[in-house]
Amino acid sequence: MSEEKGPDDFLVLRVLGEDEDSTVVLAKDIRTNKKYAIKILDKTKVIKNGKWDQVNKEKQIISKLYHPFFVKLEYSFKDDKRLFFVLSYAANGELEWYIQHYHCLSKECVQFYTAELVLALEYLSECDLVHRDLKPANILLSEEMHVQISDFGAAKSTVQESPLNVSPAHDQLENAFVGTAEYVPPEVLIGKASSSSSDLWSLGCIIYQMMVGSTPFYDPNEYHIFHKIIECDYQVPSAMDNDAKDLISKLLVVDSNKRLGSKNLGGFHALKGHPFFANINWKNLPNEMPPAMK
Ligand code: ADE
Repeated sequence: MSEEKGPDDFLVLRVLGEDEDSTVVLAKDIRTNKKYAIKILDKTKVIKNGKWDQVNKEKQIISKLYHPFFVKLEYSFKDDKRLFFVLSYAANGELEWYIQHYHCLSKECVQFYTAELVLALEYLSECDLVHRDLKPANILLSEEMHVQISDFGAAKSTVQESPLNVSPAHDQLENAFVGTAEYVPPEVLIGKASSSSSDLWSLGCIIYQMMVGSTPFYDPNEYHIFHKIIECDYQVPSAMDNDAKDLISKLLVVDSNKRLGSKNLGGFHALKGHPFFANINWKNLPNEMPPAMK
């Protein structure tokens, strides 16, 4: 973050999204015309919903991230009633939209976007952070169609456990399974702390979804989803690419220490060496032209 900015420096163009205590708007800097996504939080609602510490932690985490595959916190400021987080604008929206629009994605696209997610998760683990809510709705795409991971509302540090870190899955359990459960790893469901390998489970779910069009543990009843997750009960369509099938089976492993990419299984070096990534040039991904989405 550089110079001081305030609400009057931006012109709001339209609403991008809303939840119970915040609104994300597309806005432009009046001086430069550059577009940003501004997350505007109502202080009273944040306090009423018991999220003050969580919001501050989210800001603290996102302001530390300097990597091409994450949304960047460009400025932050407040007025009497609101907090403003000015984020880099991911102009091409959510990966979720593309999966639904095309039903599933081409193998080339799945390889490319999975590889970008692997680099993003490698960076997060180097920062001793877990995202804990990785899903295609939080994977945004930049103007150039590169990954921009957003929404650090559930993220936490893996080095210091704080009593303020309430896991989203436990919130869901206590609130009768509200929210999306399909990407939650089994260790979180059975009350264990999430580890740096927790995002690798979610990555397995996302690869499956990009290949197949639906999530591996989907069920209309969320209670059944949780059951399937704990049992690792998923079916792979017989036509699925063998390398993709193998990679998914090595990420969707109930024991978080036995997931490909976890520290005791060779870490990210071993994950990047999987045959599914044979065509990936790991060094140049952020500068490469992404394959046409299809
Ligand atoms: N919705 C939420 N955050 C966003 C961002 N940074 N860019 C585009 N849309 C968003």
